[in-house]
Amino acid sequence: MTRVPVHFRINGAAVAAQVAPDLTLADFLRGEQRLKGTHIGCEEGVCGSCTVMADGETLRSCLTLATQMDGADITTVEGFDDPAGERLRKAFSEYFAAQCGFCTAGMMAVAREFLADTSVADHRDEAAIRSRLDAVVCRCTGYQAIVAAVRAAAGAE
Ligand code: FES
Ligand code: FES
Repeated sequence: MTRVPVHFRINGAAVAAQVAPDLTLADFLRGEQRLKGTHIGCEEGVCGSCTVMADGETLRSCLTLATQMDGADITTVEGFDDPAGERLRKAFSEYFAAQCGFCTAGMMAVAREFLADTSVADHRDEAAIRSRLDAVVCRCTGYQAIVAAVRAAAGAE
């Protein structure tokens, strides 16, 4: 099959590859880059477990072809090593915000985008956090611990 050249920054490193035109970004990250923190659930844009950051915004990687993102700066959960990412990682651990962990990379991506959103009046506001976390489905935690972790990462306590 024809393969298409693509170039990215992934977690801060330059990556060049040749990909099949129909390869999703999710399959590229997991299968070819071995970044297994991004999970694939529904493959139809509903569950949010495949969410990554692309050029600073969240993106459903199951619905996106790798070729569509040529030139993008992509960050997966493995690259969440900035101060906001570190705060989230610590808070998720302290608040037991992950059980099976399937949703965790997507939750952290959405939370990270939320914490960086300057249009949010108060990042500790529970309703605002819950509204944003709607983008990712968690089948384990009942969400309470995740909301508490995001509030803590926002400096609530
Ligand atoms: S796997 Fe992408 S939204 Fe569910
Ligand atoms: S921790 Fe299992 S799906 Fe969220």
